[in-house]
Amino acid sequence: MAKKKFNVAVAGATGAVGNQMIACLEERNFPIKSVRFLASHRSVGKKLRFRGDDIAVEELTEQSLGSVDIALFSAGGNTSKRFAPFAKEKGCVVIDNSSAWRMDPEVPLVVPEVNLHAVSDYSNKGIIANPNCSTIQMVVALSPIYKKCGIKRIVVSTYQAVSGTGKKAVDELFDQTRAIINFFDYKKNVYPHRIAFNCLPHIDAFLENGYTKEEMKMVNETRKILEDHSIGVTATTVRVPVFYAHSESINVETEKHITADEVKSLLRLAKGIKVVDEPEKNIYPLAIDAAGRDVTLVGRIREDESIPNGINMWVVSDNIRKGAATNAVQIAEVLASDYL
Ligand code: A2P
Repeated sequence: MAKKKFNVAVAGATGAVGNQMIACLEERNFPIKSVRFLASHRSVGKKLRFRGDDIAVEELTEQSLGSVDIALFSAGGNTSKRFAPFAKEKGCVVIDNSSAWRMDPEVPLVVPEVNLHAVSDYSNKGIIANPNCSTIQMVVALSPIYKKCGIKRIVVSTYQAVSGTGKKAVDELFDQTRAIINFFDYKKNVYPHRIAFNCLPHIDAFLENGYTKEEMKMVNETRKILEDHSIGVTATTVRVPVFYAHSESINVETEKHITADEVKSLLRLAKGIKVVDEPEKNIYPLAIDAAGRDVTLVGRIREDESIPNGINMWVVSDNIRKGAATNAVQIAEVLASDYL
């Protein structure tokens, strides 16, 4: 029997994540009948290459979602809020990379390696949310530990690449770096401070509790994906002058004791993870090694000697690929194989 093929749209196709979604659909040979690349009116007519053809970008409107089976959205929260409910009326399933729908109890929040079963709940609203990039790589690394010995508390600090802010931020880091090393004046438009040769303990807006939205996303999304609201999670999220791949220092307090060696063995068998942990040879996960790949690198795995049941680790993953585009396309693959 011929494999079913799908009418697919990418909304936000001209952006950093949208571009990568297109690359992932192509690389992973997603079964496509037709494809539409959608963005704002500013990009209409721009051509994007897909499977050897130049495809003209169209404006995202209510009409442009007609006869689409699966729409991958990465065009900002407001755009998702406006168009995702409409897509459902048209019989289209939206896989949304924004934060607009993630905490909606009727919308599944899915990392296929962790909670694949949740995909089937999409029929309530016709939307499946892709988690925040920092959350995805953290739960990929923690889920095997959670399943084996339970987790009481997570303390995470992130070192996040500028590509998470979008194309403009990638350009800003490049332009500022070039200006500074040439002793020119630099401009800052994207971040409130210079990002080149600097670290900003500020990702997304500050909230009344003193945390940023990004930090609270890590708290709330982790609990939703692991389906355990009793886990204590506290996060500090930091933007660093790296183009691609987020790094995270994760301290986890488990319910039952587990040794560092047991964690290494567990993670070596886990999907989507590569253990990179030979510190005596200077081998540990690096952003430059994770960039452009889908695997989450885990290393520096060691016992936290300050508590009876604690593990420290360093987790690195490409925020645009596994942290966004690849995860969304993996969800689409699950839909394609099982649910449509
Ligand atoms: P455009 O390039 O036409 O502005 P990034 O996160 O890398 O900045 O990308 C954001 C993506 O979202 C781009 O593809 C951008 O399109 C798209 N986008 C932003 N606002 C809208 C909108 N109102 N309608 C449709 N697409 C939008």
